[in-house]
Amino acid sequence: SDALKIGIAGLGTVGASLVRILQDRHEMLATTCGRAIEIMAVTARDRSRDRGVKLSNIKWFDDAVSLASEADIDVFIELMGGAGDPAYSAVKAALQRGIHVVTANKALLAAHGIELAGIAEEHGALLNYEAAVAGGIPVIKALRESMTGNTVSRVYGIMNGTCNYILTKMEKEGLSFEDCLKEAQRLGYAEADPAFDIEGNDTAHKLSILTSLAFGTAIAADDIYLEGITNISIEDIQAAADLGYRIKLLGVAQRTESGIEQRVHPTMVPYDSVIAQVDGVTNAVAIESDILGELLMVGPGAGGNATASAVLGDIADIAKSRPGAQHVPAFGRPATALLPYKRARIQ
Ligand code: HSE
Repeated sequence: SDALKIGIAGLGTVGASLVRILQDRHEMLATTCGRAIEIMAVTARDRSRDRGVKLSNIKWFDDAVSLASEADIDVFIELMGGAGDPAYSAVKAALQRGIHVVTANKALLAAHGIELAGIAEEHGALLNYEAAVAGGIPVIKALRESMTGNTVSRVYGIMNGTCNYILTKMEKEGLSFEDCLKEAQRLGYAEADPAFDIEGNDTAHKLSILTSLAFGTAIAADDIYLEGITNISIEDIQAAADLGYRIKLLGVAQRTESGIEQRVHPTMVPYDSVIAQVDGVTNAVAIESDILGELLMVGPGAGGNATASAVLGDIADIAKSRPGAQHVPAFGRPATALLPYKRARIQ
């Protein structure tokens, strides 16, 4: 059958990995998906940079909005990042044309996710974002699809690879905070502005998305108690170790009698707990629910290939979907059926 035509905005660490995988595994993907996936259009800030991939025969657009509005594509892949424009306008433009969107942009979804989900539903388009939370761990699919019918009481975990990498390296190699951060940046784990990682905002963005999926509520990214890891010293880590604990940056969302509680902060976790053993760029997400019980997923949380793998899965889902098939709503239930967010009363 016809090839699935995609356009990619953003060719950083994740975008370049995705292009490489799509090119190297073109035949394999055509077989698995039942149709080829063809890159028709791309846009990136720097056109001349060598990314180690062949981009000839692909149409270059000057900016993401024109690509999203004009390119002959079935799917718009947004890998630029940033809560505002151009990502926001580009995603909106694509959805308004009924073009499916795959994005890894947690900041965008935290700010505008429900609005975008509504536009997607109005125009019969899909908004897929598995790569936005916990990198390669399929946590969106778990909450949105596999766990349908469960009542979730709590979701928590390690959701920022950069912070976990820094905390692990500080403890195990005695390196300074700054050196660990530089290394995380070199490896392509950190955000364009690493303040989002170390000050906890990135974890908060991801947590707000999981909260919506877990509790069926509107996203409330502003209602999160937030504390990053910038004040954690090697002495703190050692003192915790002496008491039998490790320090992890956790995001926690739970149902309470008065409403939902969301928080992000460094947490002492007992040394022999599974989550304490999650090292380096690895993420972990735990979900407690009434039918399934406790689910714990551990896996690569950042980096080009792990993130591109999740993006690819989202693209493959679209490639395999049949025309006219019922779409899974972006946040598990139709955007119009999301419950209002009610914050917990903190005593
Ligand atoms: N900067 C993010 C992290 C990338 O370190 O987890 C993945 O979202």
